[in-house]
Amino acid sequence: MSTFTLDTSTSRANPTPVRGKRTTVPAIRARKVGFTTADPIVMLTAYTMRMAQLLDPHCDLLLVGDSLGQVIYGLPSTVPVTLEMMCNHGAAVVRGSWHALVAVDMPFGSYEGSPEQAFASAARIMKETGCAAVKLEGGEAMAATIDFLSKRGVPVIGHVGLTPQAVNQLGGYGARGRSDAEAAHILSDARAVADAGAFCIVAEGIVETIAEELTDALAIPVIGIGASARCDGQVLVTEDMLGLFERTPRFVKRYDDLAARVTDAAATYAGEVKARAFPTPDQTYPPKP
Ligand code: KIV
Repeated sequence: MSTFTLDTSTSRANPTPVRGKRTTVPAIRARKVGFTTADPIVMLTAYTMRMAQLLDPHCDLLLVGDSLGQVIYGLPSTVPVTLEMMCNHGAAVVRGSWHALVAVDMPFGSYEGSPEQAFASAARIMKETGCAAVKLEGGEAMAATIDFLSKRGVPVIGHVGLTPQAVNQLGGYGARGRSDAEAAHILSDARAVADAGAFCIVAEGIVETIAEELTDALAIPVIGIGASARCDGQVLVTEDMLGLFERTPRFVKRYDDLAARVTDAAATYAGEVKARAFPTPDQTYPPKP
């Protein structure tokens, strides 16, 4: 059920049927008090207006993830994703939501060059979408950029551990932190991101004990994906958790089997079209009486 009606005549980028009720960056940050989060943060990815409408009432944060490269565009990784793609989908998700804070991923190549490049890209994303925050991947190497952005009105979500934009360097999507050196690296990366001013951090694909250590050590909320139930919140790719794909990472729990349901519906439709059983009088326009 929709929570509101879109005003298509004005095409407003930020429909707020309940004024002032959209979740804010300080509200997310404030969920963690003294290194503990009593009420875990709920985050899912969204790429389209309609999915945003459906997820919004249940989420604190909607992430327009660059995973849309694979999920929506069938690309082999997130590396080819462009700023234009992120802006188009970000604006759709903002239009389809009113309660959740919307964060948009900064795509590969749009922020690593310099803090100034990152600011120009983040400003474009925020102006064109109406989102309230951006997310970027990387640890110590990105600290100066996170500091630059957060001091200039751009709220940043960090992303450490398995960082999919670095797939060519990592050599795959395996879990991180299996050696002591890698574990120490993840912890120092996360600390650097938090110290630089990120208001929360995504920890992806890391050994459970490291995720727990991180959660206890950082004052900002740690949102896990393939991490630990003890994190301050969780995020999943919505299409994964809905069961739209046959193959998903170990850390995905399937809450539905949409692939089977879509396949069944399409097969039933095809059968009815071929048998001329659709449309029935219920779906056709009778002549004027
Ligand atoms: O792109 C994405 O969807 C993400 C989540 C997996 C955290 O970064």
